[in-house]
Amino acid sequence: MTFVDRNWARICRTYFKLRGLLRVPARPDSVQWLTTSACNLRCAHCGTNAGRPARDELSTAEMKDIVDQLAALGTDEIQLTGGEPLVRPDLFEILRYAAARGIRYTLVTNGTHVARFAKELSELPPAAIKVSVDGIPATHDRLRGAANFDAAMRALEFFRDLPVGTRVLCTTLNRANCPELHELFGHVRASAATHWEFHLCIREGRAQENAGWMFLTREEVEALFRFILQNKGRFPIFLGEGYYGPLTPALTDQRFFCGSGWSTFTIMPNGDVAGCPAFEARWTEGNVRDRPLAWIWRHRFERFRRLADDLPESCRRCDYLQACGGGCWMERRTGDHCFRDVWEKWIPGRQGADVAVRES
Ligand SMILES: C[S@@+](CC[C@H](N)C(=O)[O-])C[C@H]1O[C@@H](n2cnc3c(N)ncnc32)[C@H](O)[C@@H]1O
Ligand code: SF4
Ligand code: SF4
Repeated sequence: MTFVDRNWARICRTYFKLRGLLRVPARPDSVQWLTTSACNLRCAHCGTNAGRPARDELSTAEMKDIVDQLAALGTDEIQLTGGEPLVRPDLFEILRYAAARGIRYTLVTNGTHVARFAKELSELPPAAIKVSVDGIPATHDRLRGAANFDAAMRALEFFRDLPVGTRVLCTTLNRANCPELHELFGHVRASAATHWEFHLCIREGRAQENAGWMFLTREEVEALFRFILQNKGRFPIFLGEGYYGPLTPALTDQRFFCGSGWSTFTIMPNGDVAGCPAFEARWTEGNVRDRPLAWIWRHRFERFRRLADDLPESCRRCDYLQACGGGCWMERRTGDHCFRDVWEKWIPGRQGADVAVRES
C-alpha cells in the first residue's frame, strides 16, 4: 500500500478541517433524501421499515423550502430514496422545483411505478438510476413480498431507452441470495444495468425481525469478496461503502472515506437530519422544522467531525485507523463495521488479527 492508501482517512479529514480553518467550509455536494416512509412493498430486509407514510412527513411546501436551503448550501445532487420515492404524489413537482435551482437527482427505486410515470421521467430524467434486485426471480419476489422482479428489469430497460447512462442494479445481500450469486449474474448480464452494486444488510428495521437468515457469516463475506474479485473483469461489479484494507479499490472502485457530516448528510421523511439514515432521535443532528439547514450543517455533526470521541476501542488501537477512519458509520452503529479479519487473509503473512469486530 502507498503512503496515501495507508493514510487516506486522515488525509481527507485534514483536508476538510483545513477548509474549515480557512473559512471555506466544505459544502454537502450530494444529499440523501428519504422522501417518504410509504412503500408499495414490504421487503423482509427493509431497514427503514417502510410501508405506511409517517404521520409527520414533510409537506410539499416544506420540501420546496428544503430545496431552496440546499441550493443555498451549494448542494448539486439529491439522491432520492425512502420508502419508495415514486409513491410520493408531489415528487415531480418537487423535482421540477429542484431542477429550476440547478439541483439534479438520482433515483433509488423498486421499479414498480416507473412505467406509470414514464412521461414525467422522460421530461425530467434522473442523472443516474439505482434499481433494487435482490436475487433470482423467485428469491427476489419472496424477499420483496410481491411479484416485482420483472418490473425491476423493465425499469432498467426504460431508463436505458431514455437514455440514462448510469443504471445500477443494487443487491442487498443476505443468507438466502448470497449462494445464488452466480445464477443471478446471468440475469444481471442480460439486463439493461451498467453496474452491479452489492450492499451488506444493516441490522435495522425489518432486517432485525428476520435476523436468523439476514446477515452473512464471515465465510460468506469472504466468498463474496472472491466472487467480486473473480468476476469484475467481466462486468462492473462493486461493493458499497466500506473499508476492506488493500482490497478496497478492487472491491469498491475507490478509496474509502465516510463523508457523512463532511460532504454529505441525510434528510429523513419527517425533516430529521442525520449523517446517514437514522430513525432514532439520539442519532439525529436536528430537524429542519426547528432550525435552518445551514445552522445544522455548520454547528452539528460533532460525532463525525470529532471522530476520536465516537470510535470504539477496537478502532482506536487498530494499525489501519489512519486509512480506514473506523469504517462505515451506519455499520459502526450496529457493530458490523469491521471486516479486517476477512480481508487480512489476502495480505501475505497476516492470517487475521485479534480485533473485536462486534464491539461498538
Ligand atoms: C430503503 S430502499 C428505498 C428505495 C426503494 N424503495 C428500493 O427498494 O430500492 C434503498 C435501498 O436500500 C436497501 N435496503 C433496505 N433495507 C436495507 C438494510 N437493512 N440494509 C442494507 N440495505 C437495505 C434496499 O434493498 C434498496 O436497495
Ligand atoms: S426496501 Fe424499498 S421497496 Fe422494499 S420495503 Fe423498503 S423501501 Fe419498500
Ligand atoms: S478495527 Fe476495523 S473498522 Fe476499526 S479502524 Fe481498524 S480496520 Fe477499520
